[in-house]
Amino acid sequence: MSSPALPSLSDRFAVRFGAAPALRVRAPGRVNLIGEHVDYVGGLVLPVAIDRAICAAASTNGRNVLRLVSEAAGIAPVEVPLVDLGPRTGSDGWLNYVLGVLAQYRELGWTVPGFDALFSGDLPLGAGLSSSAALETATALLLEGLTGRGLDPIERARLCQQAEHRHAGVPCGLMDQLAVGAGRAGHALLIDCRDLRVTPVPLPPDWSIIVADTRVKHTLADGEYRRRREDCEAAARALGVPTLRDVSLELLAANAFRLDERLARRARHAVTEIARVPAFVAAAAAGDATAAGTLLRASHLSLRDDFDVSCPELDALAEAAWRAGSELGVIGARMTGGGFGGATVTLVRRGREAELARHLEVDFAGRFGHIPSVFVTRPAGAAEIMPPDYPAP
Ligand code: GLA
Repeated sequence: MSSPALPSLSDRFAVRFGAAPALRVRAPGRVNLIGEHVDYVGGLVLPVAIDRAICAAASTNGRNVLRLVSEAAGIAPVEVPLVDLGPRTGSDGWLNYVLGVLAQYRELGWTVPGFDALFSGDLPLGAGLSSSAALETATALLLEGLTGRGLDPIERARLCQQAEHRHAGVPCGLMDQLAVGAGRAGHALLIDCRDLRVTPVPLPPDWSIIVADTRVKHTLADGEYRRRREDCEAAARALGVPTLRDVSLELLAANAFRLDERLARRARHAVTEIARVPAFVAAAAAGDATAAGTLLRASHLSLRDDFDVSCPELDALAEAAWRAGSELGVIGARMTGGGFGGATVTLVRRGREAELARHLEVDFAGRFGHIPSVFVTRPAGAAEIMPPDYPAP
C-alpha cells in the first residue's frame, strides 16, 4: 500500500498565501568536524554543510509588509511593516535572523519589497547545527531571488554575520555562514578564517558522520560565548599580537607568565586547536582513523577543560562513543558548535551507523532520562535558489 504524498513546500505556501511561490531556496545546516571556537581568532576550521536544511518559499505581495510563517518554529504568521525591520524580542526572537538580514541589504542600498514567505525544513533548531546561519542565508537568497540581484557567497556570509551581531546580539565568527554558503557535496571545508580561503577536503569514503543532539540548551550560552571571545582578545593583547592565530605553541610556552590562569587556558585551547586542524586534514587524506580519533578526542578535552564550553550531556555522548571504540566502528567523537548543550559529532565506519546510534541513545537515556536525537548525515552542497525542477522538499 503506498502512502499518500505529503503536500510539498509550494503546496503549503499556496494554502497559506493563495498562489504558488515565485521561488524556493534551501540553506543547509553545518556540523564542524574540528577547529572549534577559533574562527573569531582568525584560526582554521573544518566544517561540513549537511543534508539537513532550512527551506523557504516566497513571492512578492505588492504591499508594504512582510508576511512570514515559520513551520519549524510552529507559530502563526507574523505581519511586519517594512518601515520597522528593527530587532524583536521574546517569542518573535526568530524574526531577528530574517529582519536583520533584510536590514543589512537595505543598508547596502537595496530596496526590500513586501513579500510573503514560508520557512520550513528538517534542520533541528538550536542544536549547534547553525540553524541561525541557515535562516539568515535562506532569507538572503529569497531577497536576491525576488529582486533579481546577487552577492557573492563571501559577501553574503559577511552580511549575514553582521545581521547576527546587530539583530541577535551574538558576536559570532564567520564559520557558520561560510559553511552554509560554500558547502560542497562529499567534502568538508577547510576555511582559513584569516584570509577566508576555502579549500574543499574530501573525506574517506568509508567514514560516516553521526550527529547526536543532546536536545538540551543551557542558558547563558550567548553571554558565555561573548566572554570566550573577550578572553581570547585579552590573551592576544597580553601576548602583544593581533590575534591568537599569531601565537605558536613555543611563543605561548615562553610567555605564559603574561597570562593569568584562565587566559592561559583559553589561549592554550585556541593555539592547540588551530594546530589540530591541518593535522586532522592530513589524517583524513591518509585514511588514518587512529590519528583522526586522537585529534577529535584532544579537541573535546581542550574545549571541556581549557575553554569551559562543554556540559555533562556533551561529555556523556563523547565518552559513550570513545568507550564503544573500534568495536562499534568508532573513529572519533567530540562536541561540535558553540557548546553548553547542542550536539556531538562522531565519525564511524560506514555500515556501523545504526548500531552506534542505538548505543549512544541507550547510554545517554540511562543517565539523563531522555533520548538524544541521533542521525547520520552526509556532506551536502551550498545554499541555493532551487531550480524549478528541484525535487519538492
Ligand atoms: C558558533 C558561532 C561560530 C563559531 C562556533 C564555535 O557556532 O556562530 O562562529 O565560533 O560557535 O566554533
